[in-house]
Amino acid sequence: MKIVSIVGARPQFIKCAPLSQELRKRHEEILVHTGQHYDPEMSGLFFEELRIPHPAYNLGVGSGTHGWQTGEMLKRVEGVLLQEEPEMVIVYGDTNSTLAGALAAAKLHVPIAHVEAGLRSFDRRMPEEINRVLTDHLSALLLCPTETALLNLKREGITEGVHLSGDVMVDALLQHHRHALEQARILERLGLHEREYLVLTLHRPSNTDSRDRLLGILRAIGDAKRKVVFPVHPRTAVRMKEYGPSEKLRGEIITTAPLGYLEMLRLLSGAEKCLTDSGGVQKEAYILGIPCITLRDSTEWVETLADGWNVLAGTDRARILEAIAAPPPAGERRPLFGGEGAARRMAEAIDRFLSSRA
Ligand code: UD1
Ligand code: UDP
Repeated sequence: MKIVSIVGARPQFIKCAPLSQELRKRHEEILVHTGQHYDPEMSGLFFEELRIPHPAYNLGVGSGTHGWQTGEMLKRVEGVLLQEEPEMVIVYGDTNSTLAGALAAAKLHVPIAHVEAGLRSFDRRMPEEINRVLTDHLSALLLCPTETALLNLKREGITEGVHLSGDVMVDALLQHHRHALEQARILERLGLHEREYLVLTLHRPSNTDSRDRLLGILRAIGDAKRKVVFPVHPRTAVRMKEYGPSEKLRGEIITTAPLGYLEMLRLLSGAEKCLTDSGGVQKEAYILGIPCITLRDSTEWVETLADGWNVLAGTDRARILEAIAAPPPAGERRPLFGGEGAARRMAEAIDRFLSSRA
């Protein structure tokens, strides 16, 4: 069967890698890159490292306001779907590429499989929350990473086509972790020693698009007087430049360009703790057993909070400093995200769905 998979942003490249491998055993997969992320270190590097097949289409949409970006993607994805006439469209996560892909497919009556369905932060000011809710309500096959996701869908009346598949990012991590430890040289390159540094990532508009908030977070972290490695997302880099070179980073914050997946996994694996507003990094930290301080007031990965391995510190200076100084959590970690094999389980659910319609 012909399946169009739509990706566009960094975390989607990582999520599609294991599933693409499974799908291509039995189906013709047409990979479409919307062009939402386009810098080599936000896009091409992941295709190389994760050996993702070259996209059949790169729609080259690029950056813009939400309406413009989503609208351009909608138009261009529609063109691809009209030309390819697939039996199914797969979308990943919660970005504008996800929503545009789902909407284009739904309008053409092509069934949609949503990978990472059912997540909710219950914060509608997050653009991702709007993308998630709408995509779930358009999808025929809802591939949930967690039990909580299943319950969220049930609460919204979505009970058909729902599968607890586990999280495909676990497959990506397990496939590449050993390789990352053996090959990535980031610790040597930056002169770091295991457990003697923190990792910081920041890119949510709520943190980056306010001068006071972004500089407040960086000041608080700098004042912890710890070595901090900060691979800077391009959105954040633009803002940091705008907010003024006079604001020198305090403490020992080492900034780098966005890292490839292997270097990022290596860096995270050796860290004492991480501070992040990323969805994916919260999960990876949990799986790797690295205490996580989430610089947000809510998270869609609520399970990680239960046993102290993840704490919501928001952007409050005192809470951030307290979380950095806190002893490591004593609680056991549980296999929250379904263990290895999510990609296989997803491919099986897709096969069953397609053969039931054939
Ligand atoms: C997007 C997703 C977010 C996801 C994140 C992953 C939406 C609404 N947001 O946020 O859910 O967590 O990707 O990283 O879809 N830029 C570059 N080069 C690039 C890409 C972006 O310079 O290759 C800069 C541009 O100035 C752009 C800004 O980053 O305006 C934001 O990019 P965009 O893709 O709109 O949103 P992200 O913040 O990356
Ligand atoms: N990541 C990476 N290099 C970086 C920062 C993050 O490879 O410099 C990886 C990270 O390990 C995780 C994914 O990108 O697998 C998370 O993507 P991001 O934080 O951009 O988006 P989110 O998960 O918040 O949507």
